[in-house]
Amino acid sequence: MREENTNPLRIDIVTVFPEMLRGYLNESMLKRAANQGAVEFGLINPRAFTTDAHHSTDDRPYGGGPGMVMLPDPIMQAVESVATSETKVIMMTPSGKQFCQQDAHRLAKEKHLVFICGHYEGIDDRVRQLLNPEELSIGDYVLTNGAIAAAVVVDAVTRLIPGVLGGEGATENESFENGLLEYPQFTRPVEYRGLKVPEVLQSGNHKAIAEWRQAKAEELTLQRRPDLAQALGLPRKPEEKSGKTRKRRRGNRQASNENNLVEPQALPQEETGCSAATVQELK
Ligand code: ADE
Repeated sequence: MREENTNPLRIDIVTVFPEMLRGYLNESMLKRAANQGAVEFGLINPRAFTTDAHHSTDDRPYGGGPGMVMLPDPIMQAVESVATSETKVIMMTPSGKQFCQQDAHRLAKEKHLVFICGHYEGIDDRVRQLLNPEELSIGDYVLTNGAIAAAVVVDAVTRLIPGVLGGEGATENESFENGLLEYPQFTRPVEYRGLKVPEVLQSGNHKAIAEWRQAKAEELTLQRRPDLAQALGLPRKPEEKSGKTRKRRRGNRQASNENNLVEPQALPQEETGCSAATVQELK
């Protein structure tokens, strides 16, 4: 485990839009993580490595076609200005592997990450050929540039660095950590606009609470992400559940109905086309 404050994860982001990210890195948990020495952020603008009068970072594509392609040399120089033998280079691109929670855990264990963010029609392919980076996408849609995509990955990675969340167990029950979507959470007041916090959560009975949460997480996962549910073998066969648990579950469902709990909406499967491969690996 990384020693707090002695061995920070260094993250450099190569982007022609550093100002898009400066504010983001300077807020909330990312700022706290940097202040406590768990992480160090750097923003590198390839424009600083241009030599022509216009400080160009892109040009028209060979072979024709719309848009502009980022020049290889400013990006290569930007990466080389910070790279060491311990650097892992990541290129943000819609054609990369879809980023998931398991990738975040893996990347949080690295010493130095350098993110390359493209824009317009992409980056001259020789950057990819020369650096052999890990290519990551944040989803099946195209952003105007990769800076926001890098911020998404940086955010998900930074919060997993030991010490950053304040409690080592803080991520355990979150969506995707155990292959399930997260159970619903409540805070005060106990009744809000006629909706009550489920009785079981007020009971102080930790075992009953854990069972209610497990049941709710399974229900939600079955409803919204059949791909994840299938990978976990949900719904469980009756013989996999103890009689006691089943009875309590029924009781809890009743309790939630007594509380007029508004059930979450199921999403049509065609709107959730993400892979369950991650969950299969978690099993
Ligand atoms: N750049 C543009 N769109 C992207 C995406 N979906 N993921 C990663 N980088 C991108």
